[in-house]
Amino acid sequence: MSQEKITAASLPPAKSGYAPADYDADYHRSIDEPDAFWADQASRLAWIKAPTKISDVSWDKDDLHIKWYEDGVLNACYNCVDRHLATRGDETAIIFEGDDPSVAEHITYKQLHIQVCRFANALKARNVKKGDRVIIYMPMIPQAAYAMLACARIGAVHSVVFGGFSPEALASRIIDCGATALITADEGLRGGKKVPLKKNVDAALAKKGVDLRTVLIWRHTGADIELEGSRDHILNDVLMDVHPDCRPEPMNAEDPLFILYTSGSTGKPKGVLHTTGGYMVYASLTHEKVFDYQQGDVFWCTADVGWITGHSYIVYGPLANGATTLMFEGVPTYPDAGRCWEVVDKHNVSIFYTAPTAIRALMREGDEWVTKHDRSSLRLLGTVGEPINPEAWMWYYNVVGDGRCAVVDTWWQTETGGILISALPGVTDLKPGSATKPFFGIKPALVDNEGHFIEGAADGNLVITGSWPGQMRTVYGDHQRFVETYFSTYPGLYFTGDGAKRDEDGYFWITGRVDDVLNISGHRMGTAEIESALVAHKAVAEAAVVGYPHDIKGQGIYAYVILKQGKSESEELVKELVAQVREEIGPIAKPDHIHITPGLPKTRSGKIMRRILRKIAENDYGALGDTSTLADPGIVDTLIENRKNR
Ligand code: PRX
Repeated sequence: MSQEKITAASLPPAKSGYAPADYDADYHRSIDEPDAFWADQASRLAWIKAPTKISDVSWDKDDLHIKWYEDGVLNACYNCVDRHLATRGDETAIIFEGDDPSVAEHITYKQLHIQVCRFANALKARNVKKGDRVIIYMPMIPQAAYAMLACARIGAVHSVVFGGFSPEALASRIIDCGATALITADEGLRGGKKVPLKKNVDAALAKKGVDLRTVLIWRHTGADIELEGSRDHILNDVLMDVHPDCRPEPMNAEDPLFILYTSGSTGKPKGVLHTTGGYMVYASLTHEKVFDYQQGDVFWCTADVGWITGHSYIVYGPLANGATTLMFEGVPTYPDAGRCWEVVDKHNVSIFYTAPTAIRALMREGDEWVTKHDRSSLRLLGTVGEPINPEAWMWYYNVVGDGRCAVVDTWWQTETGGILISALPGVTDLKPGSATKPFFGIKPALVDNEGHFIEGAADGNLVITGSWPGQMRTVYGDHQRFVETYFSTYPGLYFTGDGAKRDEDGYFWITGRVDDVLNISGHRMGTAEIESALVAHKAVAEAAVVGYPHDIKGQGIYAYVILKQGKSESEELVKELVAQVREEIGPIAKPDHIHITPGLPKTRSGKIMRRILRKIAENDYGALGDTSTLADPGIVDTLIENRKNR
């Protein structure tokens, strides 16, 4: 643990004037009188009917339910768009920065309103109704946000699928949520390369069991695409024929807002379901407090809207707060490694939020790429998605922020809807590498493997002991999986899947996943998913996947593969296996190493000892622990020998 500490007092105070004593008072109230605290926070939003019931939560696995603001009625899109029209209709809601540095656009709240209404009417014209599921498979362009908000406006439940996912992954999500419509683009652009989105959609829809009534295609690059009879429509054309106004649908606070798929330690990705009222209150409050957001700031979160970070901190949180949010289509290293800082200067970005993997990649390119840009508009930096090593933190703080911007390391998950542990600017003393302290209403705790609470400075499994409004409500279509995944390991507690240390000041240091979930460049991947992609190859009998430390990506993917009888290792086969994973999941799941082996270390009952596989992948043979219980202890030497030879 780094001993360095940067006191809040040594940095500029919060622009909001929020001070340490305010945090203490608010935090204590949020814990001591949660319903009163969250009742007050509901007034951040415009309600059609204000809620009178604040929370009704049970984490008992036989009666698990989570309800916030359950008698409230509102519309999320109205809160992000319409209610700002009178006060800031002509101010910029979205700044779009294209992949091509010569492309940029400012969209005011008034323009946003018209676009979103048109998108909503386009969906209605195709008979999409309240409660229907709509897949959004788009590049990082404003039309992705219009599509999300349009769904929210008419009460349809969107499920955004990251544009980097393969047709196979897209197909399984379409089937799982029973979507009737899909919104996509002809192509996406990333770092000068084209992403064939519509082609991927065609491939997904050609798969068995996939059926969709409507595909709306935004013409972005103008590429040649095939259109299928009554199913496919060019969105640009449809929008010309629809009315520019659309009434927002009154939604109950507990009506679903979106489903977002995320990987777990077993099985296929699960559809994390978030509802309307609690999610919106939480996204809006965390955006304002964690980022000290004030009118006039330009907020840039570099995530993709295909992830939860993009949902909460590009679209819903900032727009609920009437902010100016920047959407960037490209990548941080195109056309060169100075792109982020060029964009910061060009659009006067004041708050910048990114992932440690991007920071490490930019750090490797050298300081000049940063220092040759002015960056004086920046006043706050944030990170999310994976543990940040103190070295990268210090570089971010000293080089990017010139030692004058607080760095907020925000810990949270797809399931949590918004940030749960983070420093607050002007309030929290910073320790590089620590996510620091809980947000309002959040009660983190550490437990040992038997579920006993561990007090004081210690290491343990991170749990949360009480609900908050942004919490996911269920796994779409599989409530039992929700109960089992999160509330059964430690009954009565929400298990995060993460390990953490708490230091003597009560600061939390997230140490990473303690389950079989990998975190590759801040993206979640289940080892089981990658293994099942590998065994789908005709030459593969069995596969075991583990993570290993990777300088840039945080974790890399190491796959052990046993071939079927009669198959032998070749360069060609290894390439085929990598391609197979790309095809089944997407490029982000591509293994960094494929290790063909005659066997795996298994216990006599057949359980794979992943601990040993992790150590060997890490090239760390000193601490393999007890291998005597293995069915075939000799396999360990074979694996090590093989590893050394690669
Ligand atoms: O392991 C933690 C890591 O990312 C996981 C959640 O991944 P996902 O649902 O994809 O959401 C990522 C963006 C919110 C967590 O279980 N994680 C997220 N933020 C941090 C982190 N690990 C350490 N420090 C963080 N700030």
